[in-house]
Amino acid sequence: MIHTPSNIVLDVKNLCKNYHSPSGTLTVLNDVFLEVHQGEFLAIMGESGSGKSTLLQLLGSLDSIDSGDIKLQGTSILSLSENKQAALRNRRISFVYQEHHLIPELTAVENVMLPLLIQGESSQHAKLRSEQILTRLHLQERLQHPPTRLSGGEAQRVAVARALVTKPVLLLADEPTGNLDEASAQIVFQSMQALSREEGASIIMVTHSPILAAQAHRMLQLHHGQLMPIQHSEEK
Ligand SMILES: Nc1ncnc2c1ncn2[C@@H]1O[C@H](COP(=O)(O)OP(=O)(O)O)[C@@H](O)[C@H]1O
Ligand SMILES: [Mg+2]
Repeated sequence: MIHTPSNIVLDVKNLCKNYHSPSGTLTVLNDVFLEVHQGEFLAIMGESGSGKSTLLQLLGSLDSIDSGDIKLQGTSILSLSENKQAALRNRRISFVYQEHHLIPELTAVENVMLPLLIQGESSQHAKLRSEQILTRLHLQERLQHPPTRLSGGEAQRVAVARALVTKPVLLLADEPTGNLDEASAQIVFQSMQALSREEGASIIMVTHSPILAAQAHRMLQLHHGQLMPIQHSEEK
C-alpha cells in the first residue's frame, strides 16, 4: 500500500478539462500535475484565457473534471458523492475572488462571522474569533463598517479574513488583488501570507503581478494546458 506523505495537502495528477460547444471542443487543461504541501504559498500566472480560473474551479470541486485525479488530504474528490464533495469543500477549502463579494447589509465583523455561524459556532465565539482575525489584519477600527465604507484594499482584507476564519486547509485565490493599486495589493498579499503562516493554510493564488508572484514560495505558469515551474530570478 502506498502512503501519501501527510504534509501533501493537494495532489493533482493528469488533470484534463475540455469545454464543448457547437463550434467544437476547447481543451483548457491537458495533463496538469500539482503537489501542494501544507502551508505552501503558490502563485499561478498565465495569459488571459489560459485556464487559471478553470483550474481553481476544479481544485475547489466547483466543476467536474474530464479525467485525472484530485486528492485533498489523501481523499480523492472523485470518489465522493456531490454532497460529500460539497461538505469537504465547505469544511476545508475557501475562496477569494477579484471582487470581495461581501454582503452589503452586514458589517465587516458580521461578514467574517457568517461562515462560522453557518458551521454552527455560537455567535459569541464567532464574534470573538472574527474580531481577533480582523485585528491581526489591522482592521480593528473597521469592525462595524459596512463594505461600502471600506476602501477596496480593506474590503479585500475582510474577504481574506472571512475565507480563513474557518481554518481551511486550502485557500484558492483567483486574482485577489486584480482590482487594487500596487500598495493595497501588497497589503492584501501580506494578509494572506500572515494568516496562512499562522493558521497553516496552503494558498494557491492566481495573479498577473510578477512582483507578488515572486514573493510566493513557488511560481507556476499555466501554458498550453499545462503547469510549468517558473524559476525565481536573482537578477530582477
Ligand atoms: N463554462 C465555460 N464554457 C466554455 N468555455 C469556457 C468556460 N469557462 C471558460 N471557458 C473558456 O476556457 C478558457 C479558459 O478560461 P479561464 O479558465 O477563465 O481562463 P483564465 O482564468 O486563465 O483567464 C477560455 O478560452 C474561456 O473562454
Ligand atoms: Mg480567470
